[in-house]
Amino acid sequence: MAAAYELKLPPWPDVDFSAFGQTETVPLSRIQKLTGSYLSRNWVAVPHVTHHDSADITELEALRARLAQEGQAKPTLLPFLVKAVATGLQRYPVFNASLDASGEKVVLKKYVHVGVAVDTPKGLLVPVLRDCERKPVLTLAGEISEIAARAREKGLPMADMMGGCMSISSLGHIGGIGFTPIINAPELAILGVCKAEWTAKRHEGELAWRLMLPLSLSYDHRVINGADAARFTAHLREVLASPGSLLD
Ligand code: COA
Repeated sequence: MAAAYELKLPPWPDVDFSAFGQTETVPLSRIQKLTGSYLSRNWVAVPHVTHHDSADITELEALRARLAQEGQAKPTLLPFLVKAVATGLQRYPVFNASLDASGEKVVLKKYVHVGVAVDTPKGLLVPVLRDCERKPVLTLAGEISEIAARAREKGLPMADMMGGCMSISSLGHIGGIGFTPIINAPELAILGVCKAEWTAKRHEGELAWRLMLPLSLSYDHRVINGADAARFTAHLREVLASPGSLLD
């Protein structure tokens, strides 16, 4: 029988960059080293596919403006995305699952915990928000600000970053039209979000300017199929377009 395919990689290039010009060498932070090792493992071990879609968030933007006018703190987009993902995890159990260590069984989860990537000066951290399906958006908004501030000021204990069912990585405040987020194993999927842009679209039979949010869903193709991913983002499109239902 033929041996399993083996990667035969050349050694990593050991280059004296100073031969080409001035350089400075700085060590990676502890968080970068730790995160980097997990990202490498997940990128190599998980067959990733990224499904791209976009959601019409014109109504959601109006709702956020209304909340601000009513004197409530204006939540960012992110807590609505957490809530939308939570409803998707409930509706599509194949996303709310993990492969067990043997790789032969799928563990279906009855809880809905969502991780949120936070960019900190020392590296990327992914705190987990618990029981998102049961929490109103404003509660999730408060939890995100609190934990992101704590992550940036002091870092986070491992306990705050464990037990997630799926993660969200939002680069929307910076830009981009799509990317390939790396799955935070043993989760099976991660949602990447880029910058919403006003786009001329056919809407209710008329050409109209609509605010469109790019979504990039990476999934583990050992468990999740392309059709599942397309259904999941179609669900996100649907709930984000009628955001009232996400408030509670
Ligand atoms: N499209 C357009 N603008 C967006 C947006 C989007 N998708 N998402 C955020 N913004 C803009 C908005 O103007 C918003 O202000 P407003 O709500 O008053 O209109 C502003 O950015 C707020 O952004 P931010 O303060 O970053 O809040 P957030 O809730 O969107 O994100 C964090 C919070 C902590 C997750 C985010 O700051 C962060 O760290 N993201 C980085 C994640 C990362 O590095 N991922 C890469 C992993 S590989």
